[in-house]
Amino acid sequence: MVRIISPSMLSADFGHLDRETRMIDESAAQWVHIDVMDGVFVPNISFGFPVLKAIRKATEKFLDVHLMIIEPMKYAKRFAEAGAQLVTIHYEAVQDVRRALEEIRSYGVMAGVSIKPATPVSVLKELLDVADLVLIMSVEPGFGGQSFIEGSVEKARELRKMIETAGTNTLIEMDGGISAANSEMLFEAGCDALVAGSAVFGAPDPKAEILKILKTDTSI
Ligand code: DX5
Ligand code: ZN
Repeated sequence: MVRIISPSMLSADFGHLDRETRMIDESAAQWVHIDVMDGVFVPNISFGFPVLKAIRKATEKFLDVHLMIIEPMKYAKRFAEAGAQLVTIHYEAVQDVRRALEEIRSYGVMAGVSIKPATPVSVLKELLDVADLVLIMSVEPGFGGQSFIEGSVEKARELRKMIETAGTNTLIEMDGGISAANSEMLFEAGCDALVAGSAVFGAPDPKAEILKILKTDTSI
């Protein structure tokens, strides 16, 4: 089983985006998490294509793009073209989730579907064959630095069983309120990838903190 850390650039210092991205590039984190917010799907606005392109230039790492926007299929292709390797849309933001995921795959990138805390994992049962990844939100999407919603652990366990039954290779990612204090439990519950924003960028030594969240003391 893989253990992936995806630091969320939402918590980075945007005055030094290049430096912050290069720091993650040198760290043990395998992915870089990019939170796109439109002020409509969530009550906050973050950033879009120019910032993604700047991050793409500063790292070779796998770019994990989380779209918290309405009508994500209007823009998904442009995110893929701008360097996203995984495009994750919200289950709650599209009418036909299966079609959206198939379309994202047709761009030659991985397709992810995210669920908000109030959305049960059971809605994904018939979608696992077209989902390369499920992103379980463990806080209400919109802001970094919130407290982890404990019920998310059970969601990961339930989803892991659903994936085993379906026999797909779908990865489980979790996002929100994750730190070295709960990462081990989340990997054990079946998560493959963990997003961490404030825990990484708020730490005195972000690279060392990534190793702590990974629960390993060896660098890659
Ligand atoms: C929240 C975002 C998260 C956020 C996580 O809507 O999707 O990726 O940056 O931040 P922390 O790790 O601080 O909860
Ligand atoms: Zn996110």
